[in-house]
Amino acid sequence: MSQSLWKVRTLMLIKSYFVDAVHIYVPCLQMGCWKLKKSGWISKDLDPCSMGQLIEFMYTSMIEITVDNVQGILQGASMLGLHQLRKMSATFLQSQLTALNCLGIYFLADLYMCGELEMAARQFIFQNFLDVIHSEEFLQLSEDRLITLLRSDKLQVTSENQVLEAALSWINAEPEIRTRNACLILQYVKLALIDMTHLENIVLKLDFVKNCLKCQQLIGNAIALHYDQSALDLMTPRAQPPCVYVVGGRNSTDCQLKSMERYDFLIDQWHSVPNMNIARTAVGVCSLDGLLYAVGGECALADSQENTLYLRSVECYDPVLRQWIAKPEMKIARSFVALAAVGRFLYAIGGEDRACSYNIVEKYDTKNETWSFAPSMKRKRSGAGYCVCDGKIYVAGGFDRALHMDRASVECYDSLSEEWTFVSEMEKARSGLALVAIEHFIYAFGGRYKDRDQYFDLSERFNTLTNQWTTIKSLNTPRAWPGAAVFDGRIYILGGFDGTNRLRSAEVYDTEVDRWVFLSNMIVSRAGCGAAVV
Ligand SMILES: *[C@@H]1O[C@H](CO)[C@@H](O)[C@H](O)[C@H]1NC(C)=O
Ligand SMILES: *[C@@H]1O[C@H](CO)[C@@H](O)[C@H](O)[C@H]1NC(C)=O
Repeated sequence: MSQSLWKVRTLMLIKSYFVDAVHIYVPCLQMGCWKLKKSGWISKDLDPCSMGQLIEFMYTSMIEITVDNVQGILQGASMLGLHQLRKMSATFLQSQLTALNCLGIYFLADLYMCGELEMAARQFIFQNFLDVIHSEEFLQLSEDRLITLLRSDKLQVTSENQVLEAALSWINAEPEIRTRNACLILQYVKLALIDMTHLENIVLKLDFVKNCLKCQQLIGNAIALHYDQSALDLMTPRAQPPCVYVVGGRNSTDCQLKSMERYDFLIDQWHSVPNMNIARTAVGVCSLDGLLYAVGGECALADSQENTLYLRSVECYDPVLRQWIAKPEMKIARSFVALAAVGRFLYAIGGEDRACSYNIVEKYDTKNETWSFAPSMKRKRSGAGYCVCDGKIYVAGGFDRALHMDRASVECYDSLSEEWTFVSEMEKARSGLALVAIEHFIYAFGGRYKDRDQYFDLSERFNTLTNQWTTIKSLNTPRAWPGAAVFDGRIYILGGFDGTNRLRSAEVYDTEVDRWVFLSNMIVSRAGCGAAVV
């Protein structure tokens, strides 16, 4: 095709997209280059190379979007009203989000009105705020944009101190200019949620604070609020990043626990969080839709040291409200119950009471908040390991009170076909083991073999694709009835009973290097606890 015909057709395409554009591009096309002579409504920054690619795209419907050209393509596609291409660029950018570029991408999405990308980038910023604040982009934010960020309760931080630190590092990036308006910024830090000694000893002593009456007032007010509990209670903290929570269990003096603690990954420390309404051990715990559920278990009977009360009660922790809320009870009271979430349903599986072990399954619909029965397991199991892998529930091992027997068998429930099927058995029969899933692997840790009162540090891994168990690196410590959770590709095994003591210790397994490392000890010793990430 001749060069001139190509130009004409391109020109007509442009014309059909954006009549105004013609006036600008005509002279360029005639000169045989894509340089823009005058900017008008077109941003001066649109690079000629992207323009060339865009015009070629209009002609061939083919374009290669790369990290280097995506910004220009998005800009050009937006100007020329190439909606499909704009969407493709946005999708590409969304796949490239990192803590270092998400602010830039967010503002780009805002500028070109790419709604979906804007939402995704904003969500990314909130979730990764603690990394974002170390980026160059963060330090270069305009004052307005910083304030927009600081106003949001959706920033995920473990404490308001981190928001203060972020604001201070932004101010310190250009101290001559930014300290002048620091009080404007500090307004949006929830200073009352920052511990008082830090405010008094550090923040009040910053130079720019000493020179600004308004800053001093803000901090003074925050300190005063520390003496007014009812006002403090009204202050909503920021969103919490996902954390591992450990719930209930028994402590070293054999008492059932109401308490819950949360692991802070950043500083390797445990924090107390609000107690459950009822003390529970041998409790079923899992998370669903940002809430943490505690189901069944045993609590102490007021008049008896020996006997316990088997629970049908259910409660649910909301990490945003920081509150436990009672939910409808199960039909059958049980402890050592397995609890798994699939779709919008919770499944309370097996367990025991004083008389027997169960194979029954109750299913809780979070939509209408009702329990109903689902197909029973093939075997009775209490203290079985449980997890969800590829949308299927796996229940491994467990004890049968009637037969006085620990099981090695493993069953899998498919909620679509509503059927239980056996998969390969574990190497050792046991109950009180922890089961977790990562990708298509299931990991089984620890447990007890009651017949010989034997406690295991054994770790096994099951490949759901090949239906095979293999042994992996043992736990540092034998543990039965620990809490277990997966976060960020690592496996956390928390507390448990080693045959002599209930444990405070906790360890984390790195699947890539097949290695266990101890975490900081929990605040209290716990066995029979549950754990989940919310
Ligand atoms: C165990 O928990 C009970 C009830 O919370 C408490 O009274 C007791 O002091 C705890 N024991 C230890 C050793 O912390
Ligand atoms: C709740 O929904 C389930 C379906 O998940 C249904 O079987 C049950 O009858 C409903 N219960 C009530 C009380 O609406």
